[in-house]
Amino acid sequence: MKTIVTMGRGGTGKTSFVALMAKYLIAHRKTPLLLVDADPDQNLAEMVGVDLEASGRKTIAELLSETFIERGGTTVGVAPSKRIENRIWELGLYEGGDFDLFAVGTKWVEGCYCLPDAALKNALSAITKQYAYVLIDSPGGLEHLNRKIASSVEIIIDVMGPSSKSFAHVKRAHRVIREVGITFDNFYVVGGNGFPDGLDARAECETGLPYLGKIEYDQEVAGAVLAGRSLLEIPEGSAGYRSVGGLVELVL
Ligand SMILES: Nc1ncnc2c1ncn2[C@@H]1O[C@H](COP(=O)(O)OP(=O)(O)OP(=O)(O)O)[C@@H](O)[C@H]1O
Ligand SMILES: [Mg+2]
Repeated sequence: MKTIVTMGRGGTGKTSFVALMAKYLIAHRKTPLLLVDADPDQNLAEMVGVDLEASGRKTIAELLSETFIERGGTTVGVAPSKRIENRIWELGLYEGGDFDLFAVGTKWVEGCYCLPDAALKNALSAITKQYAYVLIDSPGGLEHLNRKIASSVEIIIDVMGPSSKSFAHVKRAHRVIREVGITFDNFYVVGGNGFPDGLDARAECETGLPYLGKIEYDQEVAGAVLAGRSLLEIPEGSAGYRSVGGLVELVL
């Protein structure tokens, strides 16, 4: 199993990148594939053409709250991690033909986090083990790292924006991830669609991390996102998709 997590400042193109990576993995039969939307703002589903609410799916946060707060959170009987795992399979997971998807959501459990957090950690690792590839889309910034949706991943990719702050962000992200105890095999940097050309050497030198290349600006991608259309449907030949395919090949 390979888990790939995107990171980066707000608006650098993380979610579109995940959607295009999904398109590439599906096209190359790198399945079963699980997509995880860890952004409370939740727009990964839309970018891959899924309406979670209309398909009656609940977010992990909603399920945690129902399972451990509204239902009393007893530790007797079925183990807490098994209880939440069952509910995620049953009520949280969207199952599609090419990929499955769930959203983490916003409503977090208040009060003691220990039981739900530990239960969720075990449940998520049991669930993700069923897939060959797991793509996790993070919100912008670093705050979400405290939630530790995944504590051990293979690949982290920081998508850099055009601002000089992106360089500092990468270094901070790399440090904070290790501080919160998330383990990973490889940490890569890519340029988002707004990242200037010709800064490859600088990106690598300033961040001290391997720079893989750039996601090309693509009118098809921008148009699809604006119209709320699935990025899985954009043409194979589109520059944005082709550039993402090249990056995925490097990573895998
Ligand atoms: N390859 C691309 N070519 C052109 N426009 C793009 C491309 N990738 C993303 N965009 C545009 O950039 C904007 C931000 O993209 P996206 O939502 O993927 O960023 P994000 O990093 O996930 O943002 P957030 O931090 O808010 O989650 C969108 O309007 C999208 O249309
Ligand atoms: Mg996003």
